[in-house]
Amino acid sequence: MTAFDRTIKIAPSILASDFANFGAEIEAVEAQGCDWIHVDVMDGHFVPNITFGPETCKAIRPHIKTVMDVHLMIAPVDPYIDAFAAAGADIITAHVEAGPHIHRTLQAIRATGAKAGLALNPGTPASAAAPLLDLVDLICVMTVNPGFGGQKFIHSQIETVKTLRSMIGDRPIHIEIDGGVDPTTAPLVAAVGADVLVAGSAVFKGGSVKNPEPYGQNISAIRAAAS
Ligand code: DX5
Ligand code: ZN
Repeated sequence: MTAFDRTIKIAPSILASDFANFGAEIEAVEAQGCDWIHVDVMDGHFVPNITFGPETCKAIRPHIKTVMDVHLMIAPVDPYIDAFAAAGADIITAHVEAGPHIHRTLQAIRATGAKAGLALNPGTPASAAAPLLDLVDLICVMTVNPGFGGQKFIHSQIETVKTLRSMIGDRPIHIEIDGGVDPTTAPLVAAVGADVLVAGSAVFKGGSVKNPEPYGQNISAIRAAAS
């Protein structure tokens, strides 16, 4: 990963891509100018949907030239941290709601050498992150209830982002927004301090591996709206 900066980064979620073609989809969005690749891991227990696990992460890793940003929507988290780190995750994000020992989880993530992310569901206040600021490299603010792509952006989360941004101060912590990001909602969160914008549907709509230009247009439209 490159040095810390707060410029806008667009992170397409492969949840909205062709599941039979992850390698080519990743190469297409990277060629079309995205900054990170967001990988949504769901267990059918913490969230009501199932995607894939560490073996898939390992298989797609060689196709990622930018940053592999792994969002774990699983509980428990701790038994699987080493497997996701070994799969090559640059960032591993765990939910504060996923268990009683988030402090230990974040320490365990950093101990692998990966960057540690903390995700907050829409029902969780910004203050939940306060005791953890020295243990995190990224805070992911969920702007939908996790589990599915294509949901509507929850506007009350803008206030959460604002609070987090002032709590973070000068610390090198990214604020990532996940859910319902498009050219209309991106500027609302960028204006209050978010720098990583995850987008699934809004990046992959209208394009394909054989016709990747819409991916580039979608990425540019989100970036332009947020910048
Ligand atoms: C939701 C996932 C998101 C999702 C975003 O549980 O964490 O990353 O893919 O999808 P869109 O951009 O379609 O809202
Ligand atoms: Zn996600």
